[in-house]
Amino acid sequence: MQIIIFGPPGVGKGTQAKLLAEEIKGKHISTGDILREAVKNGTDVGLQAKAIMDSGELVPDEIMGLLIEDALSNAADTGFILDGFPRTINQAIILEPILDKLSHEQIFFIRLTADPDIIVERLTSRRVCSTCGFIINLKLSNDLSTCPNCNASDSFIKRKDDDEMVIRNRLKVYEDNTVPVLDYYKGKVEIISVDGTKSVEDISQEILSALVQI
Ligand code: AP5
Ligand code: MG
Repeated sequence: MQIIIFGPPGVGKGTQAKLLAEEIKGKHISTGDILREAVKNGTDVGLQAKAIMDSGELVPDEIMGLLIEDALSNAADTGFILDGFPRTINQAIILEPILDKLSHEQIFFIRLTADPDIIVERLTSRRVCSTCGFIINLKLSNDLSTCPNCNASDSFIKRKDDDEMVIRNRLKVYEDNTVPVLDYYKGKVEIISVDGTKSVEDISQEILSALVQI
């Protein structure tokens, strides 16, 4: 199954993509996670991306095109969930021949929605496990001593771009550059829209039943 999960920063793409990946036994490909790993490892891409990510701007399409081609190169057999890509119309155009080469399976496009105020609240209270990437919301669980996913101790950190000023910029960048991607896909693929303000479990259920029905 080939899935694109789409929506503004903090709407819950990563949270839902991880659950979906387990359900469909597919690969969760988060371009944000790949870039953060590159920054951590000090690779060429990481060095170019760091300041851009910290300010909430977009990493250039040429870099992202190479990165996604590499990430998808071994996902043909497993299926995948793309989280955070494509983020510009140019990236959507770059993606087409890459997917065509992989297979001609139907693409499912899941769009999550939430108002900016909810997003700011969620992102300022997000913490991420620096060992395994597990995501929590401090408002829903405030035990930060041990990661419930990998048992690492004191591993939860705040992402640098989860500062309120940067979040506001990320929302603007999303409106200006990424919302038009939705129009690009309208009429080309089936778009499943889900209210991202419901509970994690309800959203997950809604996505799964929509996928079964199509
Ligand atoms: P990326 O890592 O993709 O960040 P993003 O799109 O801004 O989205 P987030 O990861 O912040 O949020 P999310 O939707 O995954 O929400 P989450 O599940 O964590 O990109 C980071 C940067 O990398 C970009 O700004 C850019 O610089 C660069 N980049 C990446 N891809 C790029 C590309 N293609 N082109 C160019 N540049 C690129 O949830 C958020 C919080 O809410 C968590 O605390 C979670 O626990 C909580 N939560 C989730 N669901 C619920 C719920 N239903 N109810 C209550 N709380 C919830
Ligand atoms: Mg994410």
